[in-house]
Amino acid sequence: MEIIKTTAGLSTRLSEAREAGKSIGLVPTMGALHAGHLSLVERARRENDIVVVSVFVNPTQFNNPDDLRTYPRTVDADCRLLSEAGVDYAFVPSVDEIYPEPDTRVFNLGPVAETMEGAMRPGHFNGVAQIVSKLFAMTNPTRAYFGEKDFQQIAVIRRMAEIENFSIDIVACPICREADGLALSSRNVRLTREGRAIAPSIHRILKESLILKENGQSPAEVKKSVNERINAVDGLETEYYEIVDALTMQPVSTWDEAVNGAVGCVTVYCGDVRLIDNIKY
Ligand code: PAF
Repeated sequence: MEIIKTTAGLSTRLSEAREAGKSIGLVPTMGALHAGHLSLVERARRENDIVVVSVFVNPTQFNNPDDLRTYPRTVDADCRLLSEAGVDYAFVPSVDEIYPEPDTRVFNLGPVAETMEGAMRPGHFNGVAQIVSKLFAMTNPTRAYFGEKDFQQIAVIRRMAEIENFSIDIVACPICREADGLALSSRNVRLTREGRAIAPSIHRILKESLILKENGQSPAEVKKSVNERINAVDGLETEYYEIVDALTMQPVSTWDEAVNGAVGCVTVYCGDVRLIDNIKY
């Protein structure tokens, strides 16, 4: 595996690959890699000739300076894992390399970016669109891989790709979980021992809510129950729990309204660690 730090280096390697007719799989990450990232890498490895993984903590998508400061950074360990996983190129740029000048682009992401994370983290999705559009332009991949834990992010990236005319296959990959159900996340390392013990309740409560739908409860009733049950766990507090259409990310008041399927998306504070998860109804 080659570690590349400059955009010029990356573009030289990838244009050679493209001229040779090779397919390119891109896995964008912010590092602190875990088995969830590696599952994206494995899939990219199976489906492409060349695999590129970017490791870059993108400052423009953090609306909270403390979150950016405390975001785990483990670049050396990340590169070791990527090399073992058979990655061809790890792209590990500096902030100046990606943003030699401030990125002032404002994307017209529309309603998919306005609910849930969009409402709670102003500017977050615009920052995601900035970095992912740069990575797409730099690598021009055949396919790009994203985890469904950040369910709304995938809808936003599809929208960005549409307005920017990228013809890239955006591949959504299932959430990876610990044996006790906790969704893998780079932020999990920040959980205290007590937090780690209670955090799996989030997935358990989401899973148990499937039965409420089967029993005829409305989205509003399911939402009330999930919120109450998570907040009843000492140490957990929901920021939002919303049931939305799986493509439009708009809240639904009846199950039939979710023409593309219904997904329940939750954000929960476990101490000062913000965890997100979701479930398909
Ligand atoms: O999901 C993430 O880790 C980030 O939002 C992404 C897509 C790598 C952009 O920085």
